Amino acid sequence: MAILVTGGAGYIGSHGVYQLIGLGYEVIVVDNLETGYKNAIHPEAKFYQGDIRNRDFLREVFEQENIEGVMHFAANSLVGESMKNPLKYFDNNVHGTQVLLEIMIEYHVKHIVFSSTAATYGEPQYVPIDEFHPTQPINPYGEAKLMMERIIDWTAKAFDITYVSLRYFNVAGAHSSGKIGESHLPETHLIPIILQVPNHKREKLSIYGEDYETKDGTCVRDYIHIEDLIDAHIKALKYLLSGHKSDIFNLGSGEGYSIYEMLKAAENVTKQTIPYEVVQRRPGDPAVLVASSTKAKEILKWAPKYNNVSQIIESAWHFHQNHPEGFEV
Ligand code: UFG
Repeated sequence: MAILVTGGAGYIGSHGVYQLIGLGYEVIVVDNLETGYKNAIHPEAKFYQGDIRNRDFLREVFEQENIEGVMHFAANSLVGESMKNPLKYFDNNVHGTQVLLEIMIEYHVKHIVFSSTAATYGEPQYVPIDEFHPTQPINPYGEAKLMMERIIDWTAKAFDITYVSLRYFNVAGAHSSGKIGESHLPETHLIPIILQVPNHKREKLSIYGEDYETKDGTCVRDYIHIEDLIDAHIKALKYLLSGHKSDIFNLGSGEGYSIYEMLKAAENVTKQTIPYEVVQRRPGDPAVLVASSTKAKEILKWAPKYNNVSQIIESAWHFHQNHPEGFEV
């Protein structure tokens, strides 16, 4: 029996594949390589290049393989892009999920672990954010992910499928081997951008605003190591395979770090001074996003192993030193 990983060539999906294979699972990867990289796919995974919106393609994969469960990462994931091109997000992310569910039903595949996001909550009404927090997305990316969650939920009710939706906060860091890590084009995420400076790919960091109501005026985020995040996916998969019911969990470290704190930590890790400038706020950035992951800890028995941001930045630095151009070369 195999686990299908959609988006297994992307940042988070590729780490899922590495960890599953490390634990002895047979893994099938589906990815259209729109934003993923072929060389991020574990060599022992069986790879089908194609788009989840293509029913015939997906049917072929389910026909060939004995799939027991799905980890669904395939999606576009840039908040800014989603504001400019919302229909791309509703088509690829929402419609893609609908087709995936149709084929799962056709082939009697009963379990799905879904890659959701803190962006489903929108502007926080309180922190730490728990799963009872209202879901009022403020961008099409978050809206699409919430729609995907709802579609999965209704489908699960009707067709005896079980799911776990995992709402991630700020995922960061890289695999301990340094072989795979976070690489987007264009890069918008804070840690890879900070590390481009000591890697001589960028002159300085632009900090988006220092007039927020936070400890030092810069935005506060909850950074979770990719390996801890994937560990939660595997626990969720086992939870479903052993017959437990569908559920939604937040995944974060529960600790908030400001941008200045991240910058300082990166300077300590890289042993270099990292120049910066403060520029205008980026539209749509909440001041503080911190997760309560108590539910995942209690029910999935999950416990993050990387407890400080220096460890997260260290693992990211290891990857970026090996891949200064990301996966491009
Ligand atoms: N930031 C900068 N300069 C940069 C890049 C980022 O100051 O060059 C700041 C941002 O303004 C933000 C923080 O660093 O305050 C983190 O920014 P990221 O873009 O790394 O991450 P976000 O918090 O915007 O986004 C994350 C996930 C999204 C998810 C969102 C949920 O990456 O996928 O949380 O709100 F949608």
